[in-house]
Amino acid sequence: MSGERGVGQAEPGVAASGQAPAAPTLRNLMPANVRIGAAVDGRLYAADARYRDTLTSDFNAVTPENALKWPILQPEPGRYDWTASDELIELARANGQAVYGHTLVWHSSVPSWVSESWSRERLRSVLREHVQTTVTRYRGKIWAWDVVNEVLAEDGKLRDSIWLRGLGPTYIADAFRWAHEADPDARLFINDYGVEGRSRKADGLFKLVRELRAQGVPVHGVGFQAHLRAGTAPNDATGNLRRFAALGVSVAITELDVRIALPVSTEKLLDQALLYQHMLRACLAVPTCESFTVWGFTDASSWITSHYPGYGAACLYDSDMKPKPARDALLHELRTRVTPTPS
Ligand code: G3I
Repeated sequence: MSGERGVGQAEPGVAASGQAPAAPTLRNLMPANVRIGAAVDGRLYAADARYRDTLTSDFNAVTPENALKWPILQPEPGRYDWTASDELIELARANGQAVYGHTLVWHSSVPSWVSESWSRERLRSVLREHVQTTVTRYRGKIWAWDVVNEVLAEDGKLRDSIWLRGLGPTYIADAFRWAHEADPDARLFINDYGVEGRSRKADGLFKLVRELRAQGVPVHGVGFQAHLRAGTAPNDATGNLRRFAALGVSVAITELDVRIALPVSTEKLLDQALLYQHMLRACLAVPTCESFTVWGFTDASSWITSHYPGYGAACLYDSDMKPKPARDALLHELRTRVTPTPS
């Protein structure tokens, strides 16, 4: 990996003449071949200047946190609503940010009007229509898609879901093929949680990706969500990412956050910082790690508070948008990183 900066990225520490030098940001220290992204709330991006300024100075990519989910895009059969997704994607593009699409097929995000009692043909046709319409709309504007999300159970077997029950295991290959037909240039990812370290589930994912690739299915990358807890590191994250890369796919950290058991303390913030740094180091150690994305960048709007009672403070910035030790640790890692030798 070279230390080159990407197009449109400022020289670290250099400001327009007559101004005080700008502090380096994550965005301008990141190697050019790795995107640094954040999951975003489109309403805050459009309406909150402080949110927007931090987002655009530290990140050169965004993942719509919810705006591309199927129930939002198609609240009723045949009625699409692109308002939120169009606005977010145009804002990101206007700010020089690449967009990572999340997510086309997720058991937890199926419109209520889709019925499991439908025939196999009808279910398959509605899924294909959703995938192809959505990918076609954003062809050339979304660089990568989570085509399938969380298709595995903890034991590494395919998760029991409406799609597995209704269509059988081939729905996964079908979804990739439909997405590829709709945008042959988009990078197509399989994304999951609990797979960033070596585990039974990660082994199952490894086998699945190997099989799909052997069948010629256009799976280009594996996304490792990485919803972590301060003080608990994944088992050999670097080795795990490397074994996937050896299958010929790209890898990406797609949803990193590190929750803290409340109350927050200095020690816990440092544990959190170490884990953020650890995951960035793992990504940068793999030449085909294409992006490093955090799931929200401010504690003010992180999903953790509502989903994990007793936990919080999972992001790089606190609720007042002050940078936390975790952000300093990422900056430090970027300044001092060792360039890996290609394996
Ligand atoms: O926007 C509505 C609001 O109008 C309504 O009043 C309120 C009442 O519940 O709900 C709001 O929508 C919520 C939405 O987040 C926006 O805040 C939904 O209920 C809530 O279910 C939704 O949660 C999202 C969750 O996925 C489910 O889609 C989280 O924000 C989002 O962070 C989370 O992201 C997932 C990834 O997609 C997949 N990987 C795991 C990750 C964390 O769970």
